[in-house]
Formats: sequence, C-alpha cells, structure tokens
Amino acid sequence: MVMGILTSLILLFFTCFPSAAYLLNQLQLPNPLRGPESLAFDRNGGGPYVGSSDGRIFKYVATGPRNGSFVEYGYSSPTRNKTVCDGLTDFSDLQTTCGRPLGLGFNHQTNELYVADAYFGLVKIGPNGGPPIQLVDAVQGTPLRFTDALDVDPETGIVYFAQSSANFQIRNLTALINSRDSSGSLFRYDPSTNQTTELLRGLAFAAGVAVSSDGSFVLVTEFSGRRIQRFWLKGQRANTSDIFARIPGSPDNIKRNPRNQFWVAVNNPLGPPPPPLPPFMASGIRISDSGIPLQIVPLVDEYRTQAVSEVQEFNGTLYGGSLFASYAVVFTP
Ligand SMILES: *[C@@H]1O[C@H](CO)[C@@H](O)[C@H](O)[C@H]1NC(C)=O
Ligand SMILES: *[C@@H]1O[C@H](CO)[C@@H](O)[C@H](O)[C@H]1NC(C)=O
Ligand SMILES: *[C@@H]1O[C@H](CO)[C@@H](O)[C@H](O)[C@H]1NC(C)=O
Ligand SMILES: *[C@@H]1O[C@H](CO)[C@@H](O)[C@H](O)[C@H]1NC(C)=O
Ligand SMILES: *[C@@H]1O[C@H](CO)[C@@H](O)[C@H](O)[C@H]1NC(C)=O
Ligand SMILES: *[C@@H]1O[C@H](CO)[C@@H](O)[C@H](O)[C@H]1NC(C)=O
Repeated sequence: MVMGILTSLILLFFTCFPSAAYLLNQLQLPNPLRGPESLAFDRNGGGPYVGSSDGRIFKYVATGPRNGSFVEYGYSSPTRNKTVCDGLTDFSDLQTTCGRPLGLGFNHQTNELYVADAYFGLVKIGPNGGPPIQLVDAVQGTPLRFTDALDVDPETGIVYFAQSSANFQIRNLTALINSRDSSGSLFRYDPSTNQTTELLRGLAFAAGVAVSSDGSFVLVTEFSGRRIQRFWLKGQRANTSDIFARIPGSPDNIKRNPRNQFWVAVNNPLGPPPPPLPPFMASGIRISDSGIPLQIVPLVDEYRTQAVSEVQEFNGTLYGGSLFASYAVVFTP
C-alpha cells in the first residue's frame, strides 16, 4: 500500500517536474486558535478570510493600524456564546454549540460569505460580517452531520456543498478515516428558492468542492476514496458523474484558479496508521480542467509533517490552509 503510494508519487514527480515551494509569509491566527481549514477573498480582494477552532471567522488585514493580523469578522454557529467559546482550541464537544467553520466562499455579487460549518450545515454571513443565517441544517428531513466544503458558482450564485459523512461528525475524525465509511454527499443549494438537492451520494469522505468556470460541471474530492468525481451540470451528460482524477494520496479541498485549472491539497501518511494525526507529507497538485496533473508542489517548508487542507491561487500567489496548524501560509511555487 505504502509502496503503491510512493510509486505513484514518484511517477507524478517525474511527470510533473516537482518544485519545492518558497514560503513567503505565515499568517498567524490569534493565540491559541488553530485550524484555518479554508480561505476566501472578498470581491475587493480583501482577505484571506479563514475559520478557526473556536467557531469565529477572521479577516486578514494587511494595512492600517492592525496591519499584519487577523481581525474578527463573524461566526457560523447561531447558538455561539462568546464567553464560553472564545479561545477554544481543539475538537472539543463544545464545538457542537460553538461551531466549526470549515469551507468558505463569497458570492461576489452580494459579498455574502457562505460557510460550511461542520455542525451547523450551510450558513451565510452578511456583507458586513457579524452573526450567521442558517440556510440548510437538514436535507429532506435528515439532519446534516458533517458539512465540510463548498463553492459558489460565480455566475448563478448557486452553492455546491459537501457532507463528509452521514455517520461521523468532525469530532470523530479518526474513527471516520479508519472506517470504510462512504456515506458522504454532494448537494446543490439554490439561493433563489432555498431548495437543496442531493446530486451525489455514497462518497468516501467527501472533502472538497469546486465548480468549473463555465458552470458545466462540479468536482467533489473523496479523501478516503483518493479520487475526484465530476458531476455534470450541463450538456448531454447532465446529471451523470464520472471519475475526474485519481490522486496518489488523500485529496482535501479543491479550488479553481483563474485559468480554469484546479489546485487540490493532498496528504500522504508517512508514519504508521492511524491517520489523520501527523506525520504527513503535504503537497499541492495543480490539475487541468480535463483532470490531467500539471504540477506538484511539496509543501515541506510550509507544513513539515502537518496536513495541508487547502491550496488556493489568488492574484498570482498561493495560499495554504490547514485543519491543525495555527497559521495560514503564503507561498510561491
Ligand atoms: C495583486 O498583486 C499586485 C502586485 O503583485 C498588487 O499591486 C495588487 O494590490 C494585488 N491585488 C489585490 C486585490 O490584492
Ligand atoms: C504596519 O504598521 C507599522 C506601524 O504600526 C508600520 O511601520 C508599517 O509600515 C505598516 N506596514 C504596512 C504594510 O502597512
Ligand atoms: C454565556 O455563557 C455564560 C457562562 O456560562 C453565561 O453566564 C451567559 O449568560 C451566557 N450568555 C448567553 C447570551 O447565553
Ligand atoms: C463521536 O464522538 C462522540 C464524543 O466525542 C461520541 O459520543 C460518539 O459516540 C462518537 N460517534 C461515533 C460514530 O464514533
Ligand atoms: C430563503 O431563506 C431566507 C433566510 O431564511 C429568507 O430570508 C428568504 O425569504 C427565503 N427565500 C425564499 C425564496 O424562500
Ligand atoms: C437533470 O436533473 C434536473 C433535476 O432533476 C432536471 O430538471 C433536468 O432536466 C435534468 N437534465 C437532464 C439533461 O437530464
């Protein structure tokens, strides 16, 4: 198994001319918070915005009196109590009331921030930050258990989001990874009707979502399935799915870049099981819009043996997120 992973990694390395990334900056969350799992930029290029272990969402401010720091922007739990929740660091059961924001994405037309909260489903935060509006906490009567990732179609405002598992919550992450669970789903939320539709089910730890720039398909990664599925939204294949790419490792978030390619965060376990605890070998893989790997960037300086959860290209620079680290990274390949 490990040899297989190594062989495919080595093959990928040779095919794609890997180049180590240069770390440009480390954006620290306020102490003692962790876990900027995903990143988003607003329509003015502000950010990155990130979620954190205590349920708050922060905006990175580069200039001004608080330059170089994350300032509080909002939160994703409708039941969050600041006194109890501020400063929460780990996968404590308190997160079931404090919230755990994971996937983030702006609707650039309205400047609303959509959040996939691990415990509170799909929520959105208004254009000036603050408290959340819970949009989807159950689908056809079944409560969501572990919402993880999303992407907003920039043309239509439709939100595609994933549930990692219908059986395990994020506090059961290790149990989920060590199981053969394949109860994850991909959903579509239409803000004009508030309707949610299930597009795909049976996913092995759905972890990342990205819609193509022309809206013809949406991708969903399977962390345990080690692959990316493509669900067709338009054309003759609409409403069918196929395998977009197989990944030599566990893919987490996936993000479109301005050239309609995709960056996927990938982790390979280095030590004995059980994951998801370190050590890992983290990397970013850039994939074409037809699923062909184009570049692999080992994130050695950035994450050492921690896991990376997102790689995103913005304004010519790469940003990295992690469920475990206390910082986001800025780097260049
Ligand atoms: C993009 O990068 C350029 C230079 O690299 C900078 O001048 C510009 O302000 C950046 N834009 C945003 C929105 O951050
Ligand atoms: C940040 O603020 C400090 C002083 O508070 C100033 O010296 C520095 O130039 C500022 N940097 C930016 C990028 O605004
Ligand atoms: C928040 O929790 C504190 C401590 O348990 C409690 O005293 C306070 O009333 C709570 N606030 C709200 C708004 O529920
Ligand atoms: C998940 O964790 C909670 C406590 O952290 C535990 O009560 C529950 O049984 C676990 N569920 C599963 C499916 O492992
Ligand atoms: C959708 O839900 C939001 C928030 O609950 C509500 O304000 C809005 O009126 C709803 N729209 C429709 C079309 O039902
Ligand atoms: C795909 O499914 C949607 C919703 O069920 C339906 O409205 C649409 O006509 C279908 N498209 C095709 C090409 O089958």
